[in-house]
Amino acid sequence: MTNRIAVVTGAAGGMGRAIVRRLLNDGLTLVGLDIDGAAVAGMEQRLAGFVGMAVDLTDPAAVASAFADIRGVHGGVDALVNNAGTCFMSDFPNIPAEEFVRQMAVNFGSAFHCCQEAVKAMSGRPGVRKIVNISSNGAYNFDVFDPPHYRASKAAMDTLTKDLARRYAAERIAVNSLAPAMTETPLFGVLTEDVLARAIAAMPHGRAMQPSEIADWVGFLVSPAGDICSGNVIILNQGRDVR
Ligand SMILES: NC(=O)c1ccc[n+]([C@@H]2O[C@H](COP(=O)([O-])OP(=O)(O)OC[C@H]3O[C@@H](n4cnc5c(N)ncnc54)[C@H](O)[C@@H]3O)[C@@H](O)[C@H]2O)c1
Repeated sequence: MTNRIAVVTGAAGGMGRAIVRRLLNDGLTLVGLDIDGAAVAGMEQRLAGFVGMAVDLTDPAAVASAFADIRGVHGGVDALVNNAGTCFMSDFPNIPAEEFVRQMAVNFGSAFHCCQEAVKAMSGRPGVRKIVNISSNGAYNFDVFDPPHYRASKAAMDTLTKDLARRYAAERIAVNSLAPAMTETPLFGVLTEDVLARAIAAMPHGRAMQPSEIADWVGFLVSPAGDICSGNVIILNQGRDVR
């Protein structure tokens, strides 16, 4: 089998690092994109098979340039994991206009532009190519704290998942979303202690999920086992919202 190339966005974050580790263990060559250039450079030093690139994914020209470089060096892309994202915590109706624009750009615009470039870079590659979008359970559960611009950014991402799954099914590009609930990463820092404690207490297993547990699902979808799954939003929340 030829060397498979995976691009992971937000590679230096809590979830990103676990996804990188899992896909490297599965034998893929990894390109990690992150706005934190120093962090991905450090990972490059430590991880064989990993190349880090400093990219602000809210800049479509920077995204296009990064993918042009990837195609130049690696010849194409076999898997894309849109994981970069954040959660701004201003609440409705007092959300500054710039925060709304930034939320959509970081969470949705980045994935949209990476998908535009990735489907071109996937053209002509063998086998079923994969796009995995890291969405959020916050787009579906309205009991928890998530602010509306965060929810909307992930709902937009999941609609993109379905559109691309349908559009590229015959070309054998499988596109799915994983929508986790509370997962222990540096993103927990946006929450007050009180909100965090209540959200973790609401998890049926009495604990937050670990990034490696989400990364295992990414690994599964990217593996041949995931070839026949496309257009799905897979909720990962220990069964919390089953009524
Ligand atoms: N942690 C959770 O409980 C949880 C739950 C549901 C969904 N998610 C989603 O998981 C994904 C990963 O989050 P995490 O928890 O690992 O957070 P994190 O803050 O640890 O990682 C996010 C990464 O994205 C990068 N990033 C942010 N803006 C960027 C930009 N403009 N360009 C390039 N890179 C940028 C950051 O530098 C960071 O490395 C996010 O999309 C988040 O919405 C997280």
